[in-house]
Amino acid sequence: MEIIIQPTPEEATKIAARIIARLLSRKPNAVLGLATGGTPQLLYQELVTMNLNWSQVKTFNIDEYAGLPENHPQSFHSFMRENLFRHIKIPARNVHIPDGNAWDVEKFCETYEKQIRAAHGIDLQVLGIGGNGHIGFNEPMSSLASRTRIKTLTRQTIRDNARFFGSRSNVPRHVITMGIGTIMEARQIILLAFGAKKSEAVASAIEGPIAARHPASALQQHPHVTICLDDAAASKLEFAGYYRETFRNKPAWQR
Ligand code: F6R
Repeated sequence: MEIIIQPTPEEATKIAARIIARLLSRKPNAVLGLATGGTPQLLYQELVTMNLNWSQVKTFNIDEYAGLPENHPQSFHSFMRENLFRHIKIPARNVHIPDGNAWDVEKFCETYEKQIRAAHGIDLQVLGIGGNGHIGFNEPMSSLASRTRIKTLTRQTIRDNARFFGSRSNVPRHVITMGIGTIMEARQIILLAFGAKKSEAVASAIEGPIAARHPASALQQHPHVTICLDDAAASKLEFAGYYRETFRNKPAWQR
């Protein structure tokens, strides 16, 4: 795991954007796994300004609310359209977002996994993290081997996401999410986290034991993870000094 701590979300985001840009220039037909929420908004803004070639890129979003119409302003379909897809030239057939209104959910989830495999897997997965340590919507106690499926949101996540819906009662209770096993198959992962509200979840994910109680801790077993944090999100890391020093002293060839 590489832990990069920057003073602000903007600076941490720029590093993540550069990693993605480098991947797209090395592999123009890369497959990206994408997340939504407050955290990656800056990242998508940054990618849009970079003027990258998206013509061969394929994307798979990690999750979507179940039962919310695709064109609802808070659906992840709408989020992705507004924050990224309407600003770049990516063929519509290359974009995949879970269908929160699938009639046969189990079948849909199997098909989504098949589509990821048919695209030869995800080259780089972008992740945020919930205040309770979820990645995607794999809430605490999700199996670390889980695959794409329907999940019930915890009260904490409903409370956290009520800010997007006006009130808690408007937040859907169910979501379709890639599983932790699905996420772990991505060849590279970038997790972004900003703000003091994420500091406990970040500390458990990076320095705690690997446990279903802290879904993001599964990432400790992934061979290629970069975690981009601002100072506030890093504030509960015991080894923060070491991570900063390591990044400052990176050999030039590794930068
Ligand atoms: C959303 C997703 C979630 C969010 C997490 C943090 O696609 O995968 O895991 O990344 O809930 O959300 P924000 O960024 O709004 O704090």
